[in-house]
Amino acid sequence: MTQFVRPWRGEPETVGTVAVVGMGKIGLPLAAQYAGHGWHVIGVDIQPWVVERLNQGRVHFAEEPTLAERIAEAHAAGRFRATTSHAEATGEADVVVIIVPVMLSDAREPDYRFIDPASEAVAAGLHPGVLVLYETTLPVGDTRDRFGPLLERASGLTVGDPDAGFLLAFSPERVYSGRVFHDLETYPKLVGGVDAVSGARAAAFYRSVLPAEVWQLSTAEAAEFAKLAETTYRDVNIALANQFAAYAERMGVDIHEVIRGSNSQPFSHIHQPGIGVGGHCIPVYPHFLISRAPELTLPALARQVNDGQVGLAVQAVERELGPLEGVPVLVLGLTYREDVRELAYTRAIPLIERLAFHGAEVWAYDPLLADEEVVRTGAHPWHWGERGPFRAIVVQTGSQQFRALDPAWFPDLALLYDGRNTLRNLALPEGVTYVGVGVPDPRAVRRVRRTAGAGSAGRR
Ligand SMILES: NC(=O)c1ccc[n+]([C@@H]2O[C@H](COP(=O)([O-])OP(=O)(O)OC[C@H]3O[C@@H](n4cnc5c(N)ncnc54)[C@H](O)[C@@H]3O)[C@@H](O)[C@H]2O)c1
Repeated sequence: MTQFVRPWRGEPETVGTVAVVGMGKIGLPLAAQYAGHGWHVIGVDIQPWVVERLNQGRVHFAEEPTLAERIAEAHAAGRFRATTSHAEATGEADVVVIIVPVMLSDAREPDYRFIDPASEAVAAGLHPGVLVLYETTLPVGDTRDRFGPLLERASGLTVGDPDAGFLLAFSPERVYSGRVFHDLETYPKLVGGVDAVSGARAAAFYRSVLPAEVWQLSTAEAAEFAKLAETTYRDVNIALANQFAAYAERMGVDIHEVIRGSNSQPFSHIHQPGIGVGGHCIPVYPHFLISRAPELTLPALARQVNDGQVGLAVQAVERELGPLEGVPVLVLGLTYREDVRELAYTRAIPLIERLAFHGAEVWAYDPLLADEEVVRTGAHPWHWGERGPFRAIVVQTGSQQFRALDPAWFPDLALLYDGRNTLRNLALPEGVTYVGVGVPDPRAVRRVRRTAGAGSAGRR
């Protein structure tokens, strides 16, 4: 049985008051998780309407399963409230968790336009003994070298002094939007302090709110780097899969068969090729490394390869249809990932721009988006089941719904470009060509096999 204490100083079986700064897709579930373990939680956000809604016990986005119930319960139990005042929340808190995004600037540098003011505002309420935790993904060294001095300067307190100053640590948030509570319970929680006492206090906090293992790394830098390393690994891996896919196409080999085969060896974990990598994390965090570490040449190359996939898709459409001037094309799926209503860094935008640049009339559909949101991506909205004049369809997001597509809706269709390997089994009428990333063109396969003296074995 845990005991609520004030002040909280990291003793086992005790809980205190935590301020969570940033009530977004990740911050709000974190608040619910902490309240569910007995902590008194104060959510902080700069958006008054968000704060107002949270103070009614209601959430402002619907996508995270069980979040609404958890927040309603915590609010009813008096363990959750929200405010726009960082200083007020921090003044009451034993622990402050900052989960406000660091963005990417146009020059592909970390952009601190949200997190710097958030940190300054937190510093205004800092008091002796408080633990400040950064969970936002940061470039290596930022917790210690950027935010430590910022907080010291703005608060007048010294970092690392558990009595007269404040403690400071970093813990990457590695959850997946849409299954945050599951991930919080299962992934080891990495944490690293700017000193041993900060690291130990941070580990004690996470042990009190998470059933998962807590791994205390030796420094904040190790914890920062671990998050950047895991996301960059995935980007580089996908780039390799994309290059393998291009080679597979040239050789008339099916890359999916190759990857399945390779990955049957336990040390091989080749990811899937596709039309590109979107979202808050994978296309962004490699730049946090690249911008600080010119010796990391592979991540930079991987970014180029993955961003180049859209261009390859448009080239493939042109190869099949000829010049795209005035050609109606339908893009299926606009969100960066299936089942997540999020357009951050989606490759749909450059895809639509590129098709339009070549003169195509671009239409689009996404089961998660309303017409006006589709229009904002630069495409005309198409509606599921409508007949359309499209000559090509490009699948950008691998939504399950697309498997129920009926090609009879599109009497002029000549090409299905499958950027996510989701529609391979769709029965297409004679005269409609299927092109998939790393999937051999059956016409080319027949040529290769004839040359090799084997019988023809087209895919369809
Ligand atoms: N979204 C994900 O899938 C994901 C996964 C793992 C980790 N993360 C990490 O979590 C961070 C936050 O992501 P998110 O998806 O919750 O972002 P989000 O955009 O959904 O939410 C950010 C919130 O911060 C608020 N905010 C902005 N400036 C503020 C300030 N000065 N003070 C207080 N609040 C402020 C915004 O109003 C918004 O509500 C990311 O930058 C990333 O480092 C995100």
